[in-house]
Amino acid sequence: MKRLESKVDRMIGQIGDKCPHFAGKDGVYDNIGTDWWTTGFLPGILWVMYDMTGKEHYKEAAWHWDEVLEEWFVKPTVELHHDVGFQFLSTAVIKHMVTGDEDGLRRGLEAANFLAARFNPVGSFIRAWNEDKHGWAIIDCMLNISLLFWASRVTGDPRYKHIAVRHADTTLKYAIREDGSVNHIISFDPETGEFIEAFGGQGYSATSAWSRGTAWALHGFANAYRNTGDIRYLSVSKRIAHFFLASLPEDSVPYWDFRVESLDGEPRDSSAAAIAASGLIEIAAAVPSGEARLYAGAAERILLSLTENYGTWDKPEHEAILVGGTGNKPANSFIDGSLIYGDYYYVEAIAKLNGWKNRIY
Ligand code: GLY
Repeated sequence: MKRLESKVDRMIGQIGDKCPHFAGKDGVYDNIGTDWWTTGFLPGILWVMYDMTGKEHYKEAAWHWDEVLEEWFVKPTVELHHDVGFQFLSTAVIKHMVTGDEDGLRRGLEAANFLAARFNPVGSFIRAWNEDKHGWAIIDCMLNISLLFWASRVTGDPRYKHIAVRHADTTLKYAIREDGSVNHIISFDPETGEFIEAFGGQGYSATSAWSRGTAWALHGFANAYRNTGDIRYLSVSKRIAHFFLASLPEDSVPYWDFRVESLDGEPRDSSAAAIAASGLIEIAAAVPSGEARLYAGAAERILLSLTENYGTWDKPEHEAILVGGTGNKPANSFIDGSLIYGDYYYVEAIAKLNGWKNRIY
């Protein structure tokens, strides 16, 4: 936490008013549009740091982000979609949680209504992305549904939770394989709700195992258990965790896909490691103490490797926390660099190990 404090303090000055997503080897974060799905992660880091330390400068640097994001509800864009969860949980929702701000509450609920409206009732899934992808759902959305669980908690209206549960059940049925590996994209007939097929998406192929997708599923189902107490979600999160842990290379940080033909020259994805570590801490908190050791120990091993082998502590000019992240290998974009969501989930996991009690995901 001490190291993170000085790192994040420097990031505030270096990143300034950029909206960061990816940094290459030069360690300089890009400035992607504020409608891009990753907008929430820098403010998320700042809010977690504020909650952990009480230091005002983190709150000041994070404060405006939910207002910036809200503008996209009335601007022409095709970018707001299922990922309003990622965008508003790490801005409006945590702002309300930590400060009681009423605008944060209103904006979080606005986003929850938008997400709920993407639910396809015959197929029981929240549709992914926009344009013609009416029948697609993706594994990443297991994190976005935390917004719906939160909305039910703060309003007392169970409809949001019902949608989240139905989406989670569909994901469990069609996206999770017997061996604990997962599909990225599952597609349905949007008229009848009938399952059609699974696609590789950001993974190597339709039958491979995209490591970040696996981590989204592990963390997402652990959250779904925390929010519902439904043991099926905990069991599936554990199954996914066992696949994830059994597939790790020696340094506990996965390659971008667990099932590429050959690993020679393939990049790692440190963001998958960070997301999984945070999810493993959730599993550890949910199981009896004798069993918790397995998951907590694995989380600590992963975080230690990220800290020692992928951290930028000795590069003060580097704007990110971690290196070794891979965004979208099949599209040849954002490879072997720094990803703001890798940084966020690393901070989230370290904060949890240091007693952070609030949960947004
Ligand atoms: N949610 C998109 C990704 O993991 O790249």
